[in-house]
Amino acid sequence: MEKSVRIFAPATIANLSCGFDVLGCCLDTVGDEMVITLTDKYGVSISKIEGADLPKSPEKNVAGVAVNALLKYLGKNVGVDIEIYKKIKAGSGIGSSAASSAGAVWAVNYLLGNPLKNVELIPFAMEGERLASGNAHADNVAPSLLGGFTLVRSYDPLDVIALHSPDQLYATVIHPQIEIKTADSRSVIKQNVPLDKAITQWGNLGGLVAGLYSENYELIGRSLKDVIIEPLRSILIPAFDNVKENALKAGALGCGISGSGPSIFALSKGYDTA
Ligand code: HSE
Repeated sequence: MEKSVRIFAPATIANLSCGFDVLGCCLDTVGDEMVITLTDKYGVSISKIEGADLPKSPEKNVAGVAVNALLKYLGKNVGVDIEIYKKIKAGSGIGSSAASSAGAVWAVNYLLGNPLKNVELIPFAMEGERLASGNAHADNVAPSLLGGFTLVRSYDPLDVIALHSPDQLYATVIHPQIEIKTADSRSVIKQNVPLDKAITQWGNLGGLVAGLYSENYELIGRSLKDVIIEPLRSILIPAFDNVKENALKAGALGCGISGSGPSIFALSKGYDTA
C-alpha cells in the first residue's frame, strides 16, 4: 500500500453569481500542491507550509481539522503528516481554505484504500470551512473534490449534485491585491431577502443549470446575475463595476464576485474570448 501521495488541490469559484452557498466550479490550472504521508506516529502533524503564513497546529489549520474529522469518522488510529505548498493566496476568493481541506481528506482517503467516495468526503472538508469562516459551506469544497460544476441541492441532509460542464466554457479570474476575509464578507449580507429578489435569483439559478446541461452559452450568460449578494459585497471591491462592465464589453458571458471576493470572475465561450 502507498504511504505517501503528492496531489494537486484545485482552486474553485463559489456562488457563480446566482447560487450563493450552493453553486461552484473547479479551476483546472490553479491550485495548491500537498504531500500527504501515513506515518507510524499516531495523530495529525503539519510538517511544512510553503507560500503562506498559516498555522501548523492541526487544530488551527483547516487541513488538520478536516483530516481529524475524517479519521474520527473512520475510527482509524493512524499517523498523518501534511505538507502544504500554497499557490492560492488566502483570502483571495478562489477557495484557498477549501483546496487545503478537500485536498487533505481526498489524499488520506486515497492512502487508506478509498473507504469513502469523493462525494462522501465533502462533510469532512466542510469542517475546514467552518474553522476558516465560521460557516460550514460546501460550495468550494464540493467542486474541489468532484471537479467541474457542482450544486448543493440541500445542506440538511447534505445532497451535492455534480453538474454538466460545457466544453467551451472558460473562466477568467482577476485578483485585486487586497484581502477580504470570508467571515467579514459574510457579515455584510442581510439575513432576509425580499420575495421579488428571491424570484429573480432562483429563476437565474435554474436558468444557469439548464444552460450548463443544454450547452446554451447565451442562456448561461443571461443567468449569471446576482441581485442579492453582489450589490452588498461589491462595495468592498475597488473598481468592481468598472471591471464587470469591461469584461462584458470584451465578450464575457457573465461576470461577478468569485466566492466572497475580492477576486472577480468571468465566464466566456472559448479560450480566446476568456
Ligand atoms: N459561499 C461562500 C460565500 C463562499 O460567498 O461566503 C466563500 O468562499
